[in-house]
Amino acid sequence: MRRKLAAGNWKMNGTSAALAELNTLASIHPTPDVDILICPPAPLLSRAADATAQSQITIGGQDCHAAVSGAHTGDTSADMLLDAGATAVILGHSERREDHDERNEDVRAKARTAMNAGLVTVICLGESLAQRVAANTLDIIAGQMSGSIPDQATGENLVIAYEPIWAIGTGMVPTLEQIAEVHDFIRVRLERRFGEGVGRSVRLLYGGSVKPSNAAEIFAVPNVDGALVGGASLKAADFSPIITALE
Ligand code: G3P
Repeated sequence: MRRKLAAGNWKMNGTSAALAELNTLASIHPTPDVDILICPPAPLLSRAADATAQSQITIGGQDCHAAVSGAHTGDTSADMLLDAGATAVILGHSERREDHDERNEDVRAKARTAMNAGLVTVICLGESLAQRVAANTLDIIAGQMSGSIPDQATGENLVIAYEPIWAIGTGMVPTLEQIAEVHDFIRVRLERRFGEGVGRSVRLLYGGSVKPSNAAEIFAVPNVDGALVGGASLKAADFSPIITALE
């Protein structure tokens, strides 16, 4: 049985005032039936970890460097994330693939380092609108999977988030059939590459305009084990009903 996961990606939003949202969330969900992960911006990580230390909420980074340490100004290592209290890291988000020119092999190298350090990696995959329209979605996902996911992936250290780029922050959401098709495809490919045991235990999240109003129907889709939520994770009042819909 895969434990459901409600993950929030705050992206480049929030200063210390936003930590109050974590306290609110923790008080609404003292003993959640699902895992809750919040990924704040790097400068907030250790304070977010302190704020959630007595709760069931876990904290994650939004990126890490592929190198263990060294001369990489402005970057954050996997060990630094762990030291700050993070247990997970988002890798290969489409915004990083686009803004920082990250390719599949970069994501794979980062994931290798993060897994070696003991972090859970949330690896993001997803097609652009042009790729969807050209009926290339499954080919794109297949390429991102084989290119971005390292061989040491297990059900414990890997989570995959399917985030169609055109659905991120737009209010546009794929049909439930489209979500099901991609999630089934990812599951089958995981089983083929890593064997049934690992393939069936990796959690698959959907991401892209998840809101309290559409969460329940998305979570009812087979092979959707939770969500990676952007905008609606910033306020406890929005994220809490999404968590409840998953429980
Ligand atoms: O990583 C989460 C994400 O990209 C989805 O963002 O704002 O559409 O929920 P949003």
